[in-house]
Amino acid sequence: MTRIAVYPGSFDPPTRGHTDLVTRSLALADRVIVAIARNSTKQPLFTVEERLEMLRAVVGEEPRVSFATFEGLLVDFARDAGATLIIRGLRAVSDFEYEFQMAMMNRHLLPGLETVFLVPPEDATYLSSSLVREVARYGGDVSTLVHPVVDAALRRRFHR
Ligand code: PNS
Repeated sequence: MTRIAVYPGSFDPPTRGHTDLVTRSLALADRVIVAIARNSTKQPLFTVEERLEMLRAVVGEEPRVSFATFEGLLVDFARDAGATLIIRGLRAVSDFEYEFQMAMMNRHLLPGLETVFLVPPEDATYLSSSLVREVARYGGDVSTLVHPVVDAALRRRFHR
């Protein structure tokens, strides 16, 4: 049986923490679908298509990883994709409450769909897309926190 995992998120933009989690999740699943939610309530910096393009570039050629976007509930996307695992990153205690609520709600909506939390590398525990966006917006150096493709996209977006 092929074990399929969905790694959902906003990825606005993808960071080195995200790519690390994609790699780690391959130890748990035969196939990993990195899935960008279209109906996020947040005001995005990059369009879904731009984020998809960036994700493809930063993850690179890996036959077991595919990319998708989804609208509506994650559980519906996971069910349609035949996934049994949801991958999420847990960086700090501050992430816990939100992640725990989502995991419980998703399991309530689709029993059998398990959420697996993976821990990023130590030097990425403070890393988040929102901080990267803010630092880049005000001209800070994020080049070690994101892939060069993402760094270049941030520079273009903020005219630097
Ligand atoms: O990277 P993020 O923004 O923390 O990812 C959050 C995401 C996209 C995983 C979450 O908002 C989500 O699953 N959205 C899809 C809609 C949904 O299913 N909502 C109920 C979750 S319990």
